[in-house]
Amino acid sequence: MLRVVVCVSGGGTNLQAILDAVDDGRITNTQIVGVISNNPGVRALERARQHNVPGICISPKEYEKREAFHQALTETIDGLNPDLIVLAGFLVKIPEELVRKYSNRIVNIHPSLIPSFCGVGYYGLKVHEKALERGVKLTGATVHFVNEGMDEGPIIAQKSVAVEDDDTPEILQRRVMEQAEWILLPQAIDDIANGRIRVVDNKVKRTVE
Ligand code: GAR
Repeated sequence: MLRVVVCVSGGGTNLQAILDAVDDGRITNTQIVGVISNNPGVRALERARQHNVPGICISPKEYEKREAFHQALTETIDGLNPDLIVLAGFLVKIPEELVRKYSNRIVNIHPSLIPSFCGVGYYGLKVHEKALERGVKLTGATVHFVNEGMDEGPIIAQKSVAVEDDDTPEILQRRVMEQAEWILLPQAIDDIANGRIRVVDNKVKRTVE
């Protein structure tokens, strides 16, 4: 059983997609052992509790120094003994020490086709605002392993989504979630849980069965 910790910051629709996929067997061989939020009172924590998964809040606001927050985050994650950490809309930069410790064992979902519209300052709705500003006709989502860079780790999967003329950032965000994110992220977790992918030379390869 792959032990998975999911880190969230807000609504938690990607978390919901994961929980539903575990329930209905699209993700196998996997147990969600905890959900960690950096914000208190978010819908994502409620979704965790509704599924009888421990929901824990570690807010940076509770700590005077960033290092203390990082330490609390690391200790909480370590305490859950995960095989995989999933950043499902976790809008906090992961401490480098944690990235090194869990090398190729942290995945992130990003709402664009990396390397477009990613990196510092590109998160949540902002990504879709920038895509609309630029007038791209295709956007999408990417699941990737997390390394020390920002949205730079090995890409696991990508799916494109059409941009329509009348899109608002909110409408586009919803379409990218429905047509890409909620499909890609559960698939990636299932692939990892069942040993179907591996990282070679900083690239993700599929294991031939
Ligand atoms: C999702 O669109 C996710 O891709 C994005 O935040 C949203 C969270 O929604 N993540 C990033 O932008 C990371 N750079 P959710 O809480 O409903 O899953």
